[in-house]
Amino acid sequence: MNNSPSGGMGQQVLEAEPMRVGWVGRKTKMSNWQELEHKYFMQTFERVPLTIVRGQGARVWDEKGKEYLDFVGGWAVNSLGHCHPVVTKAVTEQAKLLIQTSNQFYTVPQIRLAELLVKNSCLDKVFFGNSGAEANEAAIKLARRYGQLKLDGAYEVITTLGSFHGRTLAMVAATGQEKFQKPFPPLPTGFVNVEYNNIGAIKSATTGKTCAVMVEPIQGEGGVNLPDDGYLPLLKAWCEQKGILFILDEIQTGIGRTGTLFAYEQYDVEPDIMTLAKGLGGGVPIGAILAKEKAAVFALGEHGSTFGGNPLACAAGYATVKFIIDNDIAGKAKKVGQYLIQGLEGLKPKFPLITDVRGRGLLVAMEFGRDIAQSLVLACLERGLLVNQLKPNALRFIPPLIIGTKEADEALGILDSALTSVIS
Ligand SMILES: Cc1ncc(COP(=O)(O)O)c(C=O)c1O
Repeated sequence: MNNSPSGGMGQQVLEAEPMRVGWVGRKTKMSNWQELEHKYFMQTFERVPLTIVRGQGARVWDEKGKEYLDFVGGWAVNSLGHCHPVVTKAVTEQAKLLIQTSNQFYTVPQIRLAELLVKNSCLDKVFFGNSGAEANEAAIKLARRYGQLKLDGAYEVITTLGSFHGRTLAMVAATGQEKFQKPFPPLPTGFVNVEYNNIGAIKSATTGKTCAVMVEPIQGEGGVNLPDDGYLPLLKAWCEQKGILFILDEIQTGIGRTGTLFAYEQYDVEPDIMTLAKGLGGGVPIGAILAKEKAAVFALGEHGSTFGGNPLACAAGYATVKFIIDNDIAGKAKKVGQYLIQGLEGLKPKFPLITDVRGRGLLVAMEFGRDIAQSLVLACLERGLLVNQLKPNALRFIPPLIIGTKEADEALGILDSALTSVIS
């Protein structure tokens, strides 16, 4: 039997699969691919014992051909599901035409995507990067440049506790969670982390050194934490009053995830700067910052990227965003999200251990009175459903935006059975 990973996908399962302490200390059967991962990778990801080899729509398949309903969606990336025909077509056609040129030259997909984003948002100018963290870094650079030019050298950015803005050093400093910061001192300075959903905390932290406030409209990684309806409008008004920039990190909430193309639309506020990534490329890596004219202060040479805005990623991005807009995928996500939340709420009487269900659109969390999330992830996996452990006592559901009530019902059925098995 061929155990080499280069010998073709899907057949490399060892005949006698070794038992190994796998996902978070649990004994799991490891396939050959997982053995090799342990051998060659820095162990930074707590991977679930599943090797995905194929995806279509909201379904994926493992190396043995077992099918799963995917409610993880590449961590809120696969907005149109796996290998959506419009994304696959755009990528294949672009790959035959032009993949990369450098930003020394103009390329058409980049300009088309920029125009599409500007015409469908409240913002005026775009810069493309390759990931969420990189987009946020660019937003901070832009805010600092704005502070230098317009705010007497102000450079400090206020962010919130429980936020998540990425893994680069500066974004670790921006992210208000100790667990991400503690291993890496000294962190870049110029960030203040204050309580989320507390306008008083933002006001108290604002000084003559402040150039911007950056928040997620809904905190994703930090717990699917929804702000009070008044929080973002008050924050925007405060930023306007102080003349500082209001930055929204819509990397997780943007591109239809919460039921509108951008989450800010639901809170009746307009950011000065917005960052995007995740769902933007329909699975292909791309990040973007968008800014109002007044905040778009980068001059020639002040920011750049080799791969950012490459034709391949931008063709995927254009196809994805155009499809989402033309087919009101955000509106559909809103409806199916409400249906899913209702269904999850419906499980509460049977399972009193469920303490909370919350979310908007298809960014949904379910919290429990005990730390059962990991056991639930595994019980769902066994039953053919992929879900994300948000916290030891909470699950997150971030499926492709193209799911319907049928998939929601299927997930609810599996969750019901998984809860029964884990709790009893
Ligand atoms: C709100 C938010 N900002 C930034 C990031 C970082 O994005 P990336 O992992 O693409 O760097 C994430 C990723 O989860 C996110 O949810």
